[in-house]
Amino acid sequence: MISPAGIRPVGIRPVGLSLAAQSRLSARPTTVRLMATKAIDIDKVRAETPGVRHGVHLLACGSALTSSPVLDAVTGYLRLESEVGGYEAAQDQAEMLGGVYDSAAHLIGSKREEIALLENATAAWCMAFYSTPFKPGDRILTCEAEYGANYVAFLERAQRDGIEIDVIPSGSDGAIDLDALEAMIDERVKMIAITWIPTNGGLINPAKEVGSIANRHGIAYLLDACQAVGQMPVDVADLGCDFLSATGRKFLRGPRGTGFLYVKAERLVTMEPVMIDHFSADWVEPDRYVLRPDARRFENWENAYALRAGLGVAVDYATDLGLEAIQERAFGLATYLRGQLNELQGTTVRDLGPQQCAIVTWTTEGLEPQATVKKLRSNGVTIGASGPNSTLLDSTRRNLPVMFRAAPHYFNTEEEIDELISALAIEIHQSQT
Ligand SMILES: Cc1ncc(COP(=O)(O)O)c(C=O)c1O
Repeated sequence: MISPAGIRPVGIRPVGLSLAAQSRLSARPTTVRLMATKAIDIDKVRAETPGVRHGVHLLACGSALTSSPVLDAVTGYLRLESEVGGYEAAQDQAEMLGGVYDSAAHLIGSKREEIALLENATAAWCMAFYSTPFKPGDRILTCEAEYGANYVAFLERAQRDGIEIDVIPSGSDGAIDLDALEAMIDERVKMIAITWIPTNGGLINPAKEVGSIANRHGIAYLLDACQAVGQMPVDVADLGCDFLSATGRKFLRGPRGTGFLYVKAERLVTMEPVMIDHFSADWVEPDRYVLRPDARRFENWENAYALRAGLGVAVDYATDLGLEAIQERAFGLATYLRGQLNELQGTTVRDLGPQQCAIVTWTTEGLEPQATVKKLRSNGVTIGASGPNSTLLDSTRRNLPVMFRAAPHYFNTEEEIDELISALAIEIHQSQT
């Protein structure tokens, strides 16, 4: 693709040439994808991650370092817009932009028609949640690790629509208690809406088992997969979810301001979006509109196409590496980090669950997380802090203070984790003198 000036815009994704694109199937796979785990070429992925030359970044659960192909796709697209105009760039790049739906669909095992591209996971989640009608007395079941953005929406609809919110208790391992969930179901339960991986730690809720229960009872199932997509394989057919929300900037390493929603085709046909415009619906007669048939009825007309180009590249990059391989390495680095933290004086790892993901939270006596995070950053080590109100139910139940939070990704190394541990050890030492 050559720009009018005869210059090939750098980083615009060649349509259909990535491995992911080559192996893409437009129909939903009928079996769970079984791929042999292949090793990740760490030198290559680090060479393609400019941020690793600026310091240690261990916060994929916040906003991960983007890869240079993603950066090139975004800047290349913006350059094209500046050269030919925004509408014209979109026309010229229509095939590539359409391919982003295929990429997202392939990543989660859906059909492209079941994908809406939105600006973040919350917008995606809210589109599904607010477009679902409830009547007074209807119940929603959620989990103790539910994310704050979702929970305030529950509260808002409880006030406005008279719905009841019931929290499924966690078992002794911290994950959703499936027997308790089963026992809570009655004819008033109209939705199960849970967070698969919470923002505040290593817990992986049994999303697939929750899906089996929801499906058996014919209850709508909304899954917040914001922290899962990009760090492990995700297959919507296997999960049995009706709706799934995802973000671009975390483990997928896409640009900020990107996300997507999956809506199962069978649900789609009966769903009226909470808001529409003349993109989501065709204005066919002065007094009549017709909704788009696909999940894009949850989008609207104007969009950040440069960011979408970056999201598509990020998704294909992850797919090409292999989500099994990404999971193996990211989870492995997190296990290493937990092991090292356990050796640190006054430090308690706070992660729950029988199997733990790449998000690690902890507290260290004498260290205030927010202030320490700032100091570490000025010394070239980036981690984060997680405050109680992102996950207020869990934080209240476990009496959690603000915690340290880190999430190594596949491009990180054990040496980088050692650097974090050394930096923390210095802070602990200084706090005692
Ligand atoms: C579990 C969970 N769900 C949803 C979100 C919201 O994602 P976004 O900021 O992309 O809307 C987050 C963000 O941290 C999260 O951790």
